[in-house]
Order: sequence, then C-alpha cells, then structure tokens
Amino acid sequence: MTKETHYTFAGHDTVALANTFGTPLYVMSEDMIRQRCRLIREGFLDKHPGSRAAYASKAFLSMGLCRIIEEEGFCLDVVSGGELFTALQAGFPMERVIFHGNNKSIEELKMAVKHNVGRIVIDHPEEIALLETIAAEAEQQVKIQIRIVPEVEGKTHKHIMTGQKDTKFGVPLAPSLIHGVVKEALESPHLELMGFHFHLGSNLFEQDIYVKAVERVMKLTKELKDSLGFVPKELNAGGGYGIRYREGDQVYPATYYTEVIMEAVKELSHEMSLQEPDVTIEPGRWIVGEAGITLYSVGAVKTIPGVRTYVSVDGGMPDNIRPALYGANYEAIVANKANELKTEVVTIAGKCCETGDILIWDQETPPLERGDILAVPSTGAYSDSMASNYNRLPRPAVVLLTGDEARLMVDRENYDDLLMRERRAANKK
Ligand SMILES: Cc1ncc(COP(=O)(O)O)c(C=O)c1O
Repeated sequence: MTKETHYTFAGHDTVALANTFGTPLYVMSEDMIRQRCRLIREGFLDKHPGSRAAYASKAFLSMGLCRIIEEEGFCLDVVSGGELFTALQAGFPMERVIFHGNNKSIEELKMAVKHNVGRIVIDHPEEIALLETIAAEAEQQVKIQIRIVPEVEGKTHKHIMTGQKDTKFGVPLAPSLIHGVVKEALESPHLELMGFHFHLGSNLFEQDIYVKAVERVMKLTKELKDSLGFVPKELNAGGGYGIRYREGDQVYPATYYTEVIMEAVKELSHEMSLQEPDVTIEPGRWIVGEAGITLYSVGAVKTIPGVRTYVSVDGGMPDNIRPALYGANYEAIVANKANELKTEVVTIAGKCCETGDILIWDQETPPLERGDILAVPSTGAYSDSMASNYNRLPRPAVVLLTGDEARLMVDRENYDDLLMRERRAANKK
C-alpha cells in the first residue's frame, strides 16, 4: 500500500502515527490550536481593547496545553482543584486563571485564594459569604464575577444547555435574589465585584441567544446602577461556540459570535448610558475540538445477516463518552484505505460491555478487516478530559504534532496505573 492512500492529519500520516504510538491514540495538532488562538486574537482581542479570551480547560487539559495557551496570551478557565493544580504545575500565571464551578469546595476556594487566581466566579448566593470568610482569613482581596442565569435556551442537547431558567448553574435572575447577592458582594470587604458572567451551553450555532443574554445582563446592570450605584467593569460572555464534527456540518468563525456580542454590548451601553464593560470570552471546544483526532485499530468484524455489520475497535466509550452520553455524532475515516471506494455501511462499536457503546451508527466505509486503522476527526474536546477506565481499559496516550514533529504529550496508561489507587497490602491474600 502506498503512503498516498493514507489519511493525513496536520501533515502527518495517521497510519504511521498508529504504528509508532499504538492505538487507541489521541492526536492533537499544536499548529491547529495556535491557529484558532490566532483567529481569536485577530478577530476579537486586537479589535476590542480591554477584551480577554480564556480557554475553557475542561475541553482538554494537560500541562503541555497550558504552555501553549500561556504563550498565546490567553487566560485559562478552570472548574476544579484538579484543573487548577494542573495549571499550577505547568507554571501558568495565576492572575490569568478564572475559577468556575457550581459547587466549589472550601478546600478548592482556599486553594484559589492562596494562589491568587485572577477571578473567582460566584455561582450561588451562599458562595459570597463563604469566599469572604476565606479571603478574610487569608488577608487577601479577591476579584470576583457573578455568574447569572440569563434565561435563554440554545438549540443543543439538553445535557449541555446551561443558560435556561431551570439549571444548576449560576445565580437566578429573580430580582429578590440577584440584587441581594450583588449588594452582599459590594459590602464584602475582601471581595471586589468586577462584573457578571454567563455561559449559555455548548456546541451552539445561534447568534440571537448571545444577544438576548447580553440584553439581560445590561438590563440588570441598569437596574443595579439605579438601585445600588454599581456599574460592572467586566462582562464574561462564556463559550459554547459550535464546531464541525462531520463533513457538511455547519461551522462558523469565532467572530460570528463575538461580533454580535460586542455590537450588543456597545449599543446597549450607549442606549442605557452605562460604562461599556470589558468583555471576556471562554471558548473550549472551538479551540481544541477540530485540532484533535482519535485513532483506533479494527478488531472483530461481525455481520448479522439482514441486520447490520458491527466493526469493533480497540477503544470506545471510555475514550469518547459523548456518543453514549448524549448521542453525539461523529464520522470515521479508514486511515489506511483513505482513497478506496466506500461500498459498505457499518456500525463502529466500542469494546465495552455496554450495548450503548457505539461510536458511530451507519458509517460508509470500504470493506474492513482486522488491523485497519480508523481515524475519528474532531475529538480534541471532551474526549480525553471525559475519559474513564470503564472495563479497566487503560486511557490512550496523547500525541502532540508540532510541524513535522510528533511527540508524546501524555503517556498511555498501563495495567499498573490501573492499580495505583489500590492498597495492595489490604487487597492481596
Ligand atoms: C463556564 C464555562 N465556560 C466555558 C465553557 C466552554 O464551553 P465550550 O467548550 O462549548 O466552548 C464551559 C463548558 O462547559 C463552561 O462551563
């Protein structure tokens, strides 16, 4: 087989990557990640003085990625002590960290205060008092934003919708609640309220929901100026920008979202005679999603006459839970037969003991056999970061492609790693 028939990703022969590093394998392109950051810089940051872009690290996080994000001049959104610890170990500048979470523990809040993170985003009314106590004990001033619920619904899977009224995230917009929370924040000697935050959900493609959310925040801002004399300096408009998972999927530049956000902010600030807030955005998936693929090896191929053909691969729901969790749709490319005619329709199954462990239904492929390599594009976000060891499958390695170079960014787990948390003495005969 000639190399020309192999699927290439970011200039690399994916079959050669599979042979060198084994499968299942996550492959990330540094160049593509940096290109996305550059697009945000040119289309948003450079155009709007005071604006900031934070990468939402829940999409994919490693110390190596922190380095790239830091070099690109971005901030980092974290939602747990573990994400914060990774950023700390990577030497990421703490003043550029935004700490989220709907149930941050006292330990996590203490850790964030101790390390002087740039912003802590208050997610529920009680968190103000909690954080004030922690900040007072540490004798520190803490800059905060308050996450509000804008009460807008995007068209996305309900598991990844977060802007609607009925959500576990954020402080409800009910005047009785939000006004009290803002007042309490303003009266807290160790907290400095910088502004508001909203995040509408993930994989969103509509502009109008961002405009509606900005309208809600600006209306709230006007009310608070009138009642408390408070004018926020910042608005964090979250992330959620959709990406292309399959050929033919819609895809928009980041400016598709940021321009309508900025227009609405400018217009409404002018209309309401309010100081224009500095805007932060927090995309995750849009930065790394399309910059990653997963490589698998084909194992069992089983045809049920008159029903379907199941092609099982050496990974599945532990390395990509999204299809099983919320019906996410992907496609596969047969990396070693990239130019062959697609004459079959098969179902790509994972190797776990769950009927729901199906990566892709009804994928057109050339005839497949054991040993073929499948590449699933657009798995750079929420794959490794959501991975598990279900059925005690070791998690895949992550390879980073930089120009012509391919190097391990994260090692493949081995069987010993699977026993790392076990007290061997207590468990052995
Ligand atoms: C607060 C917050 N900001 C940003 C994001 C990033 O979302 P996405 O990866 O869809 O851009 C999330 C995702 O859950 C989030 O919760």
